[in-house]
Amino acid sequence: MKILGVSLGTKNGNNDTMCRVALEAAREEGAEIEFIHMFDWDIKYCTGCVACSRGLVMGKGMICTQKDDFKAFYEKMVDADGVLFVDPIYESGGSGLFHALTDRMGPGHDSGMLIGAHFQMLEKTGQGLDPKYFKQKAVSFVGIGGSDWAVRVETDHAMLAMSPGWKVVNNEFFSWCKDVIMQDDKIERMKEIGRNLVEAAKEIAEDNKEGKLPVAENNKSYWKGREGACPHCQGNNFYIFPGTTHCVCELCGLEGTLEVVDGAFKFKFDPADEHKAHDIVSGKKLHGDDIFENESRLMDLYKDEEFKSRKAHYTAVCDPTPSPSKQ
Ligand SMILES: Cc1cc2nc3c(=O)[nH]c(=O)nc-3n(C[C@H](O)[C@H](O)[C@H](O)COP(=O)(O)O)c2cc1C
Repeated sequence: MKILGVSLGTKNGNNDTMCRVALEAAREEGAEIEFIHMFDWDIKYCTGCVACSRGLVMGKGMICTQKDDFKAFYEKMVDADGVLFVDPIYESGGSGLFHALTDRMGPGHDSGMLIGAHFQMLEKTGQGLDPKYFKQKAVSFVGIGGSDWAVRVETDHAMLAMSPGWKVVNNEFFSWCKDVIMQDDKIERMKEIGRNLVEAAKEIAEDNKEGKLPVAENNKSYWKGREGACPHCQGNNFYIFPGTTHCVCELCGLEGTLEVVDGAFKFKFDPADEHKAHDIVSGKKLHGDDIFENESRLMDLYKDEEFKSRKAHYTAVCDPTPSPSKQ
C-alpha cells in the first residue's frame, strides 16, 4: 500500500505535523508513505480555457494548457493507493491552493469524461487511456482551523474527490488547533484516520482487481466517518431554496427535503433520483450530456450575427486595467 500525505499549510506548521501523524500511523500498518508540502510545488490556477474537456470530448486524451507541476502531482496521486489531504481552514472553507487543485482536477480528470475519451480513443487508434487512471482510490480530508469557523470545509474538500470518483474514507475538521501538537485526542484521531485510509485502500485494491474500468462499475461506499445527513454522500451542507422546504445537497447535488428523524435532520430524496448524484457514473453521464448540449449551442452561437454584435458591444464598454507587476 502506498499512502500519499499532502499538506497545504505553512512549512512544518500544524497541517504538516498532523499529516505526518497520520502518515506515521499508516507506516505502522505496513504502508509505504510519501509526504508532499504542496507549497513546494508550482501549481497554477485553472484559467477556464476548457482545453481539457474539449480534449476528452474529442477523444484526444488528457490536455492542460498550464505548464507547471500539476501533471506530476496528479501522477503521484494516481500511483498512490490512498491520499490524505490536510488543509488549513480559511474563511470557514478550504484554502485557496486547495481550491486551485480542485479546479485543476475538474473536467479534465472527471472519471465520466475519461471513460468517454477512453472508448473514443480505442475506436480511433486502438489504444485507450492507461487503465491506472480508472482505478478507484481511497482519499481522506482533514481541515485544520485556528478557531471554530469551519462548516464549509468538508464540502469544499470532498469536491476534489468528486471529479475522479475517488472514494472518501474520512472527511472532517479539527477546530482550535494552534497548539494541536499538544492535543492528544486530535493526535489520536489523526492516527485513526491514517489507519482507516490504509484499511480502505487495501479493500479498494482488492475491488480494483475485479473490473477493467472499476471506476465505472463500483458505487460502493468505503466511508469510515460519522454518518452525515445525506445518506447518499454523507454531506452535511445544504442549499435551501428561499421560502421553501426544498433543498439540494451541496456535495452530491441530489434534491429533496430535510426532515427530523429520531431527533436529527435527515435528508430525504426520491430514490428514483439517486442515479442523478454527481459522484457516480450515471450522474456524471447526465451532467456531461447537459454540458455537451450547452457547449454545442455556444459553438453554433459563435456564427450568429446577433451574438457577435452583443459580444462586440459589451467588449467595447471598457478595457481591463493592466496588472502593475506584469508590465
Ligand atoms: C487567511 C486565513 C483565514 C483563516 N480562516 C480561518 C477560519 O475560517 N477558521 C479557522 O478555524 N481558522 C482560520 N484560519 C486559521 C488557519 O486555519 C490556521 O492558521 C492554520 O490551520 C495553521 O496551519 P499551519 O500551522 O499548518 O500553517 C485562517 C488563517 C488564515 C491565514
